[in-house]
Amino acid sequence: LSRMLRHRQKLLHINTVQDAVNLLRDAKKVIVLSGAGISTSCGIPDFRSASGLYAQLQAEGKYDLDEPQDMFDIRVFRERPEIFYSFAKQIYPSNFTPSPCHRWIRSLEDRGILLRNYTQNIDTLESSAGVKRVLQCHGSFSTASCLRCKTRVPGKTIEPYIMSQQIPFCGTCRQARDVEIAARQERKEAKKRGKGKGKVKATEWDDDSDSSEISEWGAESRPDIVFFGQALDSEFDELLFLDRDEVDLLVIIGTSLKVAPVAEVLTHIPHSVPQIFINLTPVNHVKPDICLIGDADSIVTYLSHQLGWDLPPPTAVLHS
Ligand code: APR
Repeated sequence: LSRMLRHRQKLLHINTVQDAVNLLRDAKKVIVLSGAGISTSCGIPDFRSASGLYAQLQAEGKYDLDEPQDMFDIRVFRERPEIFYSFAKQIYPSNFTPSPCHRWIRSLEDRGILLRNYTQNIDTLESSAGVKRVLQCHGSFSTASCLRCKTRVPGKTIEPYIMSQQIPFCGTCRQARDVEIAARQERKEAKKRGKGKGKVKATEWDDDSDSSEISEWGAESRPDIVFFGQALDSEFDELLFLDRDEVDLLVIIGTSLKVAPVAEVLTHIPHSVPQIFINLTPVNHVKPDICLIGDADSIVTYLSHQLGWDLPPPTAVLHS
C-alpha cells in the first residue's frame, strides 16, 4: 500500500508540475504575487520563517518592542522613530542582487506575458532585475517623503542616514530653516543697530516668540514604505480592478499570504483563473489549484528549463 501511495504521490507530483508548465506555456496575462521568500536567497531574511526577521528580533530582544511586528507598526514608528532607524540598515536594499526568482519574473515580462508583479517586498530587487510592470504594494525604499513639506526625494538621499542608523532629515526643510535662522539673526542685528532711531512696530521685530518653530523645521524625511496601520496607496485597488478582468494565470511565490489586503488578491480575481503557489512551506488557509512546495529559485529555474525559457543572466544589462 505504501509503495502504491508513493507511486500516486509521485504521479500527482509529476502531473502537478506538468500542469504548471502547460499553464505557463499557454498564459498571456500572468499576475505574479510575490513576497519575502523570493529575496531570501539574496541574503534578506523573510519575516515569519523560523530564521526570519521576526524570530531574530524576538531572540535579540534589543529593540524594546512588545512584539517583533511592532518594528513595522506606524504608531511605534511615530512615537519612537529611532527604533526603526537603528534597524533599517539590515533590510536596506543597497547591497543585494536579484535572485533567480526576480530574473524569472523579468523573463515573463521579456516574453510579453507579465500583466503585473504585485510585490509585498520593499527591497526594490524587482526593479534591479529590470522588471517594469511591478507594483510595490507595501511601498519601498526607492523614495522618501518629508513629513512637514511633503517633498519626495530619491531613496539614495536618505541612504547615509539609514546606513549610519540616524533619523533622516528633509534637506528642503533644513535649507528653509537655515535661511530663516539667518534672516532672524539679520533682523536682530538690524534691531540692535536701529535702537533709539525712532519707534519700531513690535510685530516687525518680535521674532523671539516664534523661534521655537525652528526646531520643527528639521523635519523627518521618511522612506515611502507602508507600515502596519497605514493604508496602501490607492494605486493597488485601481490596478487590481483593471487587472482582474485581463489576468489568465496567477502565480504566487514566496509568501505566507498572511497580510491583507495583498493576500486577498486571490479572492479578487475570477475563480476561473488558475492559481499556482510556489513556496517553501504549504498554506492551509487558501487552496491554490497547484502547489509546488520547495525552494522558489529551484522551482522557477526547473519550470523555465521545462519550457525552454532562458532566465536573464545575473549580470544582464537591465532595461535602460
Ligand atoms: N523559496 C520558497 N519559499 C520561501 C523561501 C525560498 N527560498 N524562503 C522563504 N520562503 C517562504 C517561507 O516559507 C514563507 O512562507 O516565503 C514565505 C515568506 O512569508 P513571510 O515571511 O510571512 O513574508 P511575506 O509573506 O512576504 O510577508 C508579507 O508581512 O511583515 C509584513 O510587510 C511585511 O511584506 C511583508 C508582509
